Amino acid sequence: MPTMTSAKPIEVPAIESVRKRLEAVGQGHLLNFYDELDAESRRSLLAQIASIDMESLPGLIRAYVHQKPEFALPESVAPAQYYPLAETKTGRTWDREHFRAKGQSLIRVGKVAAFVVAGGQGSRLGYEGPKGCFPAGAVTGKPLFAIFAEALLGARDRYGVDIPWYIMTSPLNHAQTVSYFEANGHFGLKPANVMFFQQGMMPTLDIKSGKVLMAGKGEVATNPDGHGGSLRALWQSSAIEDMKRRGVEIISYFQVDNPIVNVVDPVFIGLHATAPDSSAQMSSKMVSKRDAAEKVGVFCCHGAGRHVGRVEVIEYSDLPGELAEQRMHDGSLRFCAGSIAVHVLGVKFVEELNRNTAGTGFALPFHRAEKKVACIDPETGSAVTPSANNAVKLEAFVFDALPLCEKSIVLETDRVEEFAPIKNASGVDSAESSSRIQTQRAARWLESLGVELPRDGSGAPDCTLEVSPRTATNADELASAAAGRLPKRVERGQRLAL
Ligand code: UTP
Repeated sequence: MPTMTSAKPIEVPAIESVRKRLEAVGQGHLLNFYDELDAESRRSLLAQIASIDMESLPGLIRAYVHQKPEFALPESVAPAQYYPLAETKTGRTWDREHFRAKGQSLIRVGKVAAFVVAGGQGSRLGYEGPKGCFPAGAVTGKPLFAIFAEALLGARDRYGVDIPWYIMTSPLNHAQTVSYFEANGHFGLKPANVMFFQQGMMPTLDIKSGKVLMAGKGEVATNPDGHGGSLRALWQSSAIEDMKRRGVEIISYFQVDNPIVNVVDPVFIGLHATAPDSSAQMSSKMVSKRDAAEKVGVFCCHGAGRHVGRVEVIEYSDLPGELAEQRMHDGSLRFCAGSIAVHVLGVKFVEELNRNTAGTGFALPFHRAEKKVACIDPETGSAVTPSANNAVKLEAFVFDALPLCEKSIVLETDRVEEFAPIKNASGVDSAESSSRIQTQRAARWLESLGVELPRDGSGAPDCTLEVSPRTATNADELASAAAGRLPKRVERGQRLAL
């Protein structure tokens, strides 16, 4: 199976030169226990240190640990324009079927690849193992990776083409992810069309001193460099080269935690590639925010200045309350476009970003996250299990590439149709809420096809439903795929998978 490496093999340098290099940047403690280590652990520690860009640390520590970077609101910030679900909403009319046809023909001729970012730590879910192995199907309990594979098999059935699938992992879950695919026969996909590569890691920093934390006497504490690290990893791993060899020009980007994502959406791809207000560099999907306080990033644009019209996502914590609360005449939120982390990227765009920064390597700005990270005391070597945040993690976010696009489009979608993320062990964005949304979506499709459904007092479907993306990605596809197989009615409490 193709596994692409993110970086060149690292040469292990001599201990004295490493000590000097570390001391010059205030990180000499990383070798405090070196003399106690066996030969293999010494080699591994030195290799780990060699893989870290130590020279950039003092600047990063100044900017992100000793102070918190100030967010600068774009000049005359305005809501981003978007292609609405219903034309009546914004008055913007557009021909969905025209763009669907454009997207379909791009898919059919093999210009589209799927790309899932699956290198995260999944700490909120607290699941042992890669998040993609988590059971997510409302009825079948199918793992997320199996569901995405079914989406690609469905696309193959519909478009008559194998869609290559790129999977970004991190050193935390790479080996487990690859073996999981092997053990499951790649879920029916051709192994040659499934490519794995690893993202970069960043050292995890002590929240007070900025010193790099130690996971053990012979191990530096590190964290994956964020989904924004994917733009560099796609390049460094040669995934971009592989795409070009295959004639792929468009990358359909999604996160590993959303089982109802439309893995290859022809309308979105058609808009990205051919809409007059798209530069075919990077496009995004949004859902209407539930309320002003919902914690999602919002698509905005620069209303004035050098970058007028450029789109950017402003995190909920950075959008001033008075803007978040602003309303339109009809009472709807003015800044309504919530990001669901679904994008389309141009292969050329990713290539150019990296080629233009060939010397230093392409990097997006970091965001600072305060976390509790188990580590050892660098003086005594004893284990530290923090009860309060003791660490700063630096992560890049993929949406920070949006302002680098000349013109970027945003497409509205319906939450119930495409967004049922599993982030937490319970409550909001959990397996349980995802299962409810999966059921709601299937219920909607089935009812539109005349199937009777039981509903409870609150109007929610009183059954559990799941439609595999191999069967259908919308009601029309369900109508043709399941013609003659659909029940007349679903019984109360029934569990039905199609
Ligand atoms: P999240 O922001 O939900 O982070 O990632 P996470 O690491 O999965 O979970 P928590 O915050 O620790 O609970 C959103 C998507 O981005 C990917 C994740 O795998 C997920 O698909 N991601 C995140 C990466 O691929 N690499 C990263 O460094 C971070």
